[in-house]
Amino acid sequence: MGKDVIIACDFKNKEETLNFLEQFTEEKPFIKIGMELFYSEGPNIVRELNKMGHKIFLDLKLHDIPNTVQKAMTSLLRLDVDMCNVHATGTIEMMKAAMKGLTREDGTRPLLISVTQLTSTSEERMQDELLIPEKLDKVVMHYAKNTKLAGLDGVVCSPLEAGKVKDVCGKEFLTVTPGIRFETDEMGDQVRVTTPKKAKELGSDYIVVGRPITKSENPVETYRRCIKDFCE
Ligand code: C5P
Repeated sequence: MGKDVIIACDFKNKEETLNFLEQFTEEKPFIKIGMELFYSEGPNIVRELNKMGHKIFLDLKLHDIPNTVQKAMTSLLRLDVDMCNVHATGTIEMMKAAMKGLTREDGTRPLLISVTQLTSTSEERMQDELLIPEKLDKVVMHYAKNTKLAGLDGVVCSPLEAGKVKDVCGKEFLTVTPGIRFETDEMGDQVRVTTPKKAKELGSDYIVVGRPITKSENPVETYRRCIKDFCE
């Protein structure tokens, strides 16, 4: 898989999702399905969107004991998605189990990436509540290294961290980066944002774009602008 734009389909139900996607008559965007949609509609929504020809990043961020994660991944494997994820805090053993559960008998599998520290966790909270007495970016890079050691394909991170992650884990190690905004967009709840063009320069492999496309007056045109700026 090469560079691509993944649209975060953060909709509350199937109807809203299909209404949004039916505007795309000429292209089949790579889409991200998160907990909100998956928990409200169940696995059938994934099967349906898959049948429509979309590549799917199933963003369920698994985190449990290794045996449970392995079995859950095998259930997700049957949905035939293109990308799944886990929390790196589940340990290397858990990530290895996830890989095992997600690998077909012939050795093929969807991409598997990890979440290092959630971007909603501040350094202060990580130190005071989670009792991790380190700098946040040191922890993020350490978890990226653990992810690589476990054999996963990459991490979710800010485009601003993509270069450093590649320095630490190698340039083949994937960086999947949310926090994308055009200069004229509202920030919403994102703090450290980057344009698609800048994300490309910084070395992201996939950008995850939600509201700048889903809330745009012309989502198809905005999606095409993302593709042009990021992929071409
Ligand atoms: O609407 P927006 O472009 O901010 O959407 C970004 C998407 O990426 C959302 O689905 C959000 O949950 C997800 N995400 C993120 N930051 C992370 C991990 C995931 O914004 N660190």
